Amino acid sequence: MSDRLEVIQWATGNVGNESLKAILMHPGLELVGLRVYSGEKDGVDAGTLCGMPECGVRATTNAKAILDTDADCVVYMPRHADIDEVCALLRSGKNVISTAFLFYAECLDEKRREKLRAACMEGRTSVHGTGIHPGFVGMVLPLALSGMSRTIDKIRIVEKADWTYYASPRITFDNMRFGRPAAEATLEANPFARFNAGIFEEQIWMLAKALGAKLDRVVIDQELVVSESSYDVLAGRVEAGTVSGQRYQWRGESAGVTQIQIDALWTLGGEYPAHWERAREGWTVKIEGEPSFRSHFLPAASFERRDLSIEDHVHASDIATAMQAVNTIAALCASPPGLRGTFELGPVHAGIGFRRPPRRA
Ligand SMILES: NC(=O)c1ccc[n+]([C@@H]2O[C@H](COP(=O)([O-])OP(=O)(O)OC[C@H]3O[C@@H](n4cnc5c(N)ncnc54)[C@H](OP(=O)(O)O)[C@@H]3O)[C@@H](O)[C@H]2O)c1
Repeated sequence: MSDRLEVIQWATGNVGNESLKAILMHPGLELVGLRVYSGEKDGVDAGTLCGMPECGVRATTNAKAILDTDADCVVYMPRHADIDEVCALLRSGKNVISTAFLFYAECLDEKRREKLRAACMEGRTSVHGTGIHPGFVGMVLPLALSGMSRTIDKIRIVEKADWTYYASPRITFDNMRFGRPAAEATLEANPFARFNAGIFEEQIWMLAKALGAKLDRVVIDQELVVSESSYDVLAGRVEAGTVSGQRYQWRGESAGVTQIQIDALWTLGGEYPAHWERAREGWTVKIEGEPSFRSHFLPAASFERRDLSIEDHVHASDIATAMQAVNTIAALCASPPGLRGTFELGPVHAGIGFRRPPRRA
């Protein structure tokens, strides 16, 4: 019998495909199932789908077949999380790690939290949400930095991203409603924007809990910016007068003072609003306290090669998101049953690790 952990990959979008490739490369993991949604991927070998040699595991659109497959863990990366689906996986004895939801379980409403907890107890399994952001940048990195703090006054995380090269038209245009009239993209009008705002808010409550901030509330502001011109991006077209910029601010306040703040400065295309702050591309985490720190995080395809395209560099974030989940599988499978948070699973490190250097001529 193999001592490798048996893993099912659920969905093969930008992030799921990178996860699939990593599972096939990982010496401690064995792919035993692959759930896809599109008919054209049904029956295709998993290796073929992610540009690897054939591995003998065929993709299926049949969710029931996946539910009936024994595995240690499901890497769950669909466009939207479905709690009932996740509960069924947990009840069937499979741990679930996801980039789509559950970054801090205490923020879920009691009914859904209890449903997940009951499923974990029945299947003796655990569930965890992670990724770049939400995930590493908004929780792991500030927590790690705080290990060098005596006292903390404020934590601020700024994400600046141009969605131009994020090759998921469904998430950019359908879910986030870029390229639509502003009235359709407000927090009130767009349920996905509300869900998304919620998962970023989860990070604030998690940091507050871990670091002892007594927050009264988290305030969310949204500002939508519309484009002055019409243009095409990789994932579609933005017409003049439709949404090309979305700025969000989450402020965790204690007695009217902001102690934890997250800002997202998201544009689609070249127009960066003149009145927005000048932030660095990528993610900046700043801790004001004794002492104060600043750390900038920017995934790239390489900092040395010159032959790579902007798409390659942007795609590096998909790989990083997938790997944060894949590299947490072993810790999650070893954890006690239940809803597991970031600070319970310990530091995550690369499971595949160093590539063998090329042989010298
Ligand atoms: N935490 C983070 O840092 C982070 C970062 C990026 C993304 N994410 C999240 O990770 C997940 C995957 O992102 P992605 O960039 O890979 O998205 P994506 O490229 O749009 O892929 C989405 C996947 O969802 C599948 N899908 C199709 N119809 C669906 C349906 N009705 N319900 C659910 N899923 C359906 C697609 O299957 P087919 O390919 O078979 O059509 C595809 O594999 C999303 O939830 C996203 O929000 C998190």
